[in-house]
Amino acid sequence: MNYERQKKTPLLTAIKKYVESDPVPFDVPGHKMGRIHNDLSDAIGIDVFKYDVNAPIGIDNLYKGTGVIYEAESLMAEAFKADKAIFLINGTTSGIMMMIMGCVNSGEKIILPRNVHKSAINALIVSGAIPIFVDPEYNHDLGIADGVKVETYIEAMDSNPDVKAIFVINPTYFGVSCDLKRLVEEAHKRDVIVMVDEAHGGHLSFCDQLPPSAMECNADIASLSIHKTCGSLTQSSAILIKGNNIDYTRVRKAYTMFGSTSPSHILLASLDAARKNMALHGKKFLHNTRKLTEYAIKELNKINGISVLDKSYCNHENSGRYEFDDTRLVIRVDGLNKSGFEIYKEIRKTYNVQLELAETNLVLAILAIGSTKNDVDRLIAAFKGLSEKYYGTSKRHRVPILNYDYGDIAISPREAYFSEYKSIPLYMAEGEISCESVMIYPPGIPILIPGEKISKDVIDLYKFYIKSKGTIMQDSEIGMIKVVK
Ligand SMILES: Cc1ncc(COP(=O)(O)O)c(C=O)c1O
Repeated sequence: MNYERQKKTPLLTAIKKYVESDPVPFDVPGHKMGRIHNDLSDAIGIDVFKYDVNAPIGIDNLYKGTGVIYEAESLMAEAFKADKAIFLINGTTSGIMMMIMGCVNSGEKIILPRNVHKSAINALIVSGAIPIFVDPEYNHDLGIADGVKVETYIEAMDSNPDVKAIFVINPTYFGVSCDLKRLVEEAHKRDVIVMVDEAHGGHLSFCDQLPPSAMECNADIASLSIHKTCGSLTQSSAILIKGNNIDYTRVRKAYTMFGSTSPSHILLASLDAARKNMALHGKKFLHNTRKLTEYAIKELNKINGISVLDKSYCNHENSGRYEFDDTRLVIRVDGLNKSGFEIYKEIRKTYNVQLELAETNLVLAILAIGSTKNDVDRLIAAFKGLSEKYYGTSKRHRVPILNYDYGDIAISPREAYFSEYKSIPLYMAEGEISCESVMIYPPGIPILIPGEKISKDVIDLYKFYIKSKGTIMQDSEIGMIKVVK
């Protein structure tokens, strides 16, 4: 990496220069570089509005960059060990749509884990690609899905020799990766494209102690939520491409279908700035973050009723649990006789500590380059307080045994989505084919997808999430489902 070049921020610098030149804005947006105030500009300052420019001369075009955006994307590619990068302003959600739309034709097969993010399901509906789902390894004790075994992917590729691509999550929301390097080798031996959902892995290529990144493993294409772990603004992500297996122009074309023609240049500039920071200081930042998590794990594990996953959770050869990103604190809380959902709410209400998400038996706290020792100390203090209150109390929290036996895919997600349908109560829908997705938030993983037969286990899971007041997202009102007529 050329450190001198990485000191540049071509896009941010061009915007700054434009703002400082005091132009007369007869273009959109209508706030005219903050000339009119509103409650938001009063709250966060007028400078944000000044920098909120649309497409003035000299700022380049996101969809056909030849100037400063092109240069900023090239710098990102270099910093993240890729050949090409594409800036995104609608998160990895849009990146996943682009990867699938840009690489797989209607009727072509793609192998995906069943616990994919909803954007992958939506991409199947839009593209008409045919999914071959593989099961991740489930940890029923913790109630989470981990990675998919390399052998499971190999079996699926060998049973479907006409498969075009595999889709891999690296790492999962809970920090778990499979042996991606070996998986890429096996896929490439079979001429299969490897696309990676790296929403939670933006930081991986800056630290040797973490699982390797998609680009380090020679995957063909990946989408990274730079905003989640590398310090850019929410919604800003990037696609990375390596090698010659990907039709770059086609991926770009897919982008123009979904992207706004008025992309936020504040988000784009935040990518430029975050890339510079990671390129120059990422190693040091992550060293500090890992020291903080090491400290947090040690202290939290001393508290009665809770335990935290560490690297020993993974390191299993031939397993979906091969490597672990220990900047995630996966905190098991059922020893407090409370569910993760209850702890998630109470820790915010009583201690003003906002966690990332809750599951039945655990909560997830994400540390990243912005985390501080003071924040970690407050987290530890909050758990000490909760432990004093709940550990050893007689009120037992009953943890349901959750099964993940999803039904078979009966027809393609696209066919199901556009089928004639009838609406029935979900409790009575066993054996019917769903026309819609049902998602629980967070993390936005579908428990039901269009084209899938509705199993009894999924109905039980749905009932459980209703009872535990999880946020359920579906087209129909809660309790109902659209099924193929
Ligand atoms: C596994 C996974 N993939 C993709 C996404 C979407 O990323 P973004 O929020 O950047 O759109 C998420 C979001 O949380 C996710 O958890």
